[in-house]
Amino acid sequence: MKIAVLVSGSGTNLQTLIEQLHQDGTSGIDIAVVISDRKNAYALTRAERAGIPTHVVRTQDYENRVDFDAEISRLIEQYAAELIVLAGFMKLFQPPFVQKYQNRIINVHPTLLPAFPGAHPVADTLAYGVKIAGVTVHFVDEGVDSGPIIAQAAVPVLDTDDEERLHNRIQVEEHKLYPEVIKWYAQGKLKVKGRKVIVE
Ligand code: GAR
Repeated sequence: MKIAVLVSGSGTNLQTLIEQLHQDGTSGIDIAVVISDRKNAYALTRAERAGIPTHVVRTQDYENRVDFDAEISRLIEQYAAELIVLAGFMKLFQPPFVQKYQNRIINVHPTLLPAFPGAHPVADTLAYGVKIAGVTVHFVDEGVDSGPIIAQAAVPVLDTDDEERLHNRIQVEEHKLYPEVIKWYAQGKLKVKGRKVIVE
């Protein structure tokens, strides 16, 4: 199965997907293209090192967000990607894009959703004072981090945590969970029933 991975930043999740899926001949999963909305994203370097085609699609180069989404869609079709994997991609899609790819876009978010959606999830987690943080992999719907939840893992918050320390421990769990969920998807194991996702 061909997947497209969309990134904005460092790309540690992308790196895991490269090593655990793309470079594992038994996975049956190829990263066909990596798309970034930022030209300096280190994730692009990781993709290039692995010989994966990269494209930069920046919002400021398009008249509106529908046109931005359309260019991403054009690349998805060009590379025949069946699944769109958001890995630290920090832009929201407009409804036409989400509808076109219903249950074909997944995202990883560094909290136990529906707690702390949005752009500063780990800082919000610490500021609130919760004792259990975590990671969520979910399908993308038209809202912000609100789509059907596929899998979650918990991470204890320690009194000594700052944002970086907690995020690093959450990322350890992301790097285990995200490749696993993509394998489930490729194996046809995910069934969406309303808000519930059943892993068969
Ligand atoms: C990850 O921790 C991911 O959960 C988060 O961005 C980080 C990207 O790290 N995503 C979001 O907050 C999405 N709302 P990476 O570039 O090293 O993979």
